[in-house]
Amino acid sequence: MIRIEVDGTPLEVAEGSNLLATCLAAGIYIPNLCYMAESPEPFAGCRLCFVEIQGQPAPVTACTVAVTDGMVVHTATAPVRRLQQSAFRLLVSAHQITADCPAHKRCALQQVARHLQMGLKPKPLERVPRELEIDTSPPCFDLHPARCVLCGKCLRACQERNGSSLLTFARRGIQTVISAQGLSADGQEFTCEGCLACAAVCPVSAITPKADSGHCAGEGQGHADPQAAGS
Ligand code: SF4
Ligand code: FES
Repeated sequence: MIRIEVDGTPLEVAEGSNLLATCLAAGIYIPNLCYMAESPEPFAGCRLCFVEIQGQPAPVTACTVAVTDGMVVHTATAPVRRLQQSAFRLLVSAHQITADCPAHKRCALQQVARHLQMGLKPKPLERVPRELEIDTSPPCFDLHPARCVLCGKCLRACQERNGSSLLTFARRGIQTVISAQGLSADGQEFTCEGCLACAAVCPVSAITPKADSGHCAGEGQGHADPQAAGS
């Protein structure tokens, strides 16, 4: 075991542990949307989990750091907050909020907004207009690309569960969307077996099990966000 300090709190942890996971387990919340403890490589796509580590010239993403003995970490400095707020603004600029969202009031995005003391609705000039249809073609779930924050968790969950991801990102830049179209792009049949691992990890209910998905072997009968503990 080694000792580190986070916001003045001494912690005893296993050497090499992931810094973000360590803080969350200790009840120290750091905003995060894309971290998955079970993933071998961090995706580091949401850019929300910035922290300052004493001795390092600039803030770093906590999900990509392994703890070392004597590490001193600050999670709420002004530079950290500026980076987190910029990342959050970008995320909500393209995220559609609807009253019927099943993640309403328990969504990971709302938790981040509360922590950063920011609103969920972008200013009119910051809004990226995207008219995105709900895709009801998958047999066991519906895709709501307008809700998606592109965290990549569903792709990695599917990859880990099934050997390759049946979901994909389509288009580029600010028009990037989560898509099930890749499933049949090469003319093959849709091979989703309905494990619903994707729906289980989605932090914003952008993947919802079909109401009649009883025939699917699913584990994702609703929103779950195991990485959001400690707020
Ligand atoms: S559908 Fe959900 S889990 Fe997949 S990338 Fe979008 S927000 Fe992340
Ligand atoms: S970049 Fe670290 S949790 Fe997303």
